[in-house]
Amino acid sequence: MCGIVGYVGEKKCTDILLSGLKSLEYRGYDSAGIAIIDEDTVKIFKSVGKIQNLFDKVENEKSNIKNPVVGIGHIRWATHGKPTLFNAHPHTCNCGNLAIVHNGIIENYKELREELTLKGAIFKSETDTETVAHLIAYEYESSKDLLIAVQNATKKLKGAYSLCIMHRDNPDEIIATKCFAPLLIGVGENENMVGSDVPAIIGITNKIIYLDDMDIAVVKKDGVVVRNYNGDVVNKKVVELSIKEDSLNKMGYKHFMIKEIFEQPDIIRNALNGRLKDVHSNIVFPEIDSLQSDKKIDNIKIVACGTSLHAGIIAKYIIEDLTGVTIEVESSSEYIYRNNTTNSSSLVIGISQSGETADTITAMRLAKDKGAKILIITNRPDSSICKFADSVIPVNAGIEVSVAATKSYTAQLIVLYLFAIYLCEVQKKHTAVLREIKQELLTIPSKIEHILNNKSEIEGMAKSLSHYKDFIYIARGTNLATAQEGALKLKEISYINATAYPAGELKHGPIAMLDENMPVLAILIPNHITFDKMISNCEEAKARNAKLIALTSSNDERLEKLFDYIIRVPEVSEILSPLITYVPLQLLAYYIANYLGKDVDQPRNLAKSVTVE
Ligand code: G6P
Repeated sequence: MCGIVGYVGEKKCTDILLSGLKSLEYRGYDSAGIAIIDEDTVKIFKSVGKIQNLFDKVENEKSNIKNPVVGIGHIRWATHGKPTLFNAHPHTCNCGNLAIVHNGIIENYKELREELTLKGAIFKSETDTETVAHLIAYEYESSKDLLIAVQNATKKLKGAYSLCIMHRDNPDEIIATKCFAPLLIGVGENENMVGSDVPAIIGITNKIIYLDDMDIAVVKKDGVVVRNYNGDVVNKKVVELSIKEDSLNKMGYKHFMIKEIFEQPDIIRNALNGRLKDVHSNIVFPEIDSLQSDKKIDNIKIVACGTSLHAGIIAKYIIEDLTGVTIEVESSSEYIYRNNTTNSSSLVIGISQSGETADTITAMRLAKDKGAKILIITNRPDSSICKFADSVIPVNAGIEVSVAATKSYTAQLIVLYLFAIYLCEVQKKHTAVLREIKQELLTIPSKIEHILNNKSEIEGMAKSLSHYKDFIYIARGTNLATAQEGALKLKEISYINATAYPAGELKHGPIAMLDENMPVLAILIPNHITFDKMISNCEEAKARNAKLIALTSSNDERLEKLFDYIIRVPEVSEILSPLITYVPLQLLAYYIANYLGKDVDQPRNLAKSVTVE
């Protein structure tokens, strides 16, 4: 979703701002813009669509750009108002001396807009952000002090925001502030940056100050002063990050998505290395040990969105199977708007790749208010969600750039499997079975590598399936969520409709849709009680002329006759099968979208982290 960048220093800042925005574009956006202070004037450049349009615009105007050393930039994912030039950020006030960029939603913007209009503000856009520009300008008129104007204005805002503000009268500074939306400062040598996420600033520095809600920072080239809500100066910690540049580079792959799919075996290896010493030792989980308290936990809930929710559903199946402990799983957006049963004996596990998903953050806040213990599983232990956590488990997938989540799902899954085994070990249950599972876990990375090495088969299949407009994915048991995740991947990046059902549900409605235009992809796990039932469901689909695709490790002789396509995966037990069955589905979605020429890494309308509810 929207992204912010700001620069104050000695270098010409247009290129720095543009490349900061470029590194944020993975978050999803539909327009972009920058504002600079140059020759004593605030100059604004905006474009709709891809960021390249903004690069072109700035290039065309380069004769009008002299020596800007202060600037702010933004990519916008439309919430209030269409993705037009007027609605694109930066926004400004009547006189044009102030420029502002904003992430989040100002909930009381309508009232503020009415008030400000009466006071003479002339609005040019439909956005909530422009209200903040006029509000600060109005406060500035009386105080003639930008910091005080921002302090006064933000006290009137309701909602979530991260803001970067600059003014022609203060050509050596940017003011940055936030509330319920992330914002950080990159600390450099004679230059400082502001960003809504690390990639925005990593080209300049890896030293970061994370702002807290209601902090207001005055950022100059040679220093940063942060004040809290009361105006008192606060000492902030400077954190040094070790972000690998490789994460932000396609490293020769055509898309980030395929690169990230190929990183998965190593992600599992790394996770196992840290926590599974050998099959005879217990799983190492200090993050959970530290959760133990005198308070009894008698119910566990997992709350998440999108792909993270699918990882949560798989966790429910495996934890219940291994431990007998009941796990409830719910989408964050549902959890937060009903009278759920969370109480002070609950453990609520929030799973979020980005740690910035608004619904999941709200869910954790509500759960915390009810006295629950909060465990966060995230790829970004530096993210906003972590401040509600009693404990955080980082999944260590590295920055994921492709909007469609792949490697972060793997990283979440492996952590959740280890968590399930850990819980079982605490119960001192199934020791021999656990040893077998641990033994098999160690083989998973090479099994995924085997699938990846045979990618060309799936690529060929993708070509011949790419003309279909609808797909049904079916599975039973632990792989139901794999089917859901596979269908989600296809929808997200190819815009082909794909819906997953428990195979047993086919007869209760979806079968009515089956004909030769509706391929059915079935995940069949051999030697499992559901295998023959799955075969019967596929027979039923075949009888309705549906094209059939099997995803299986089975050599059952019925398969060749029944299925039009077979995607073979290495043998794996049912319980661990979700750790490999999703990989061919990621590849299938990728190759179909690529064949159709879709924008794989930045699918239309989607955002990497959905920071609004
Ligand atoms: C967005 C992304 C999805 C992601 C979901 C949840 O919709 O496009 O890929 O699964 O948000 O994100 P989170 O960061 O909370 O896992």
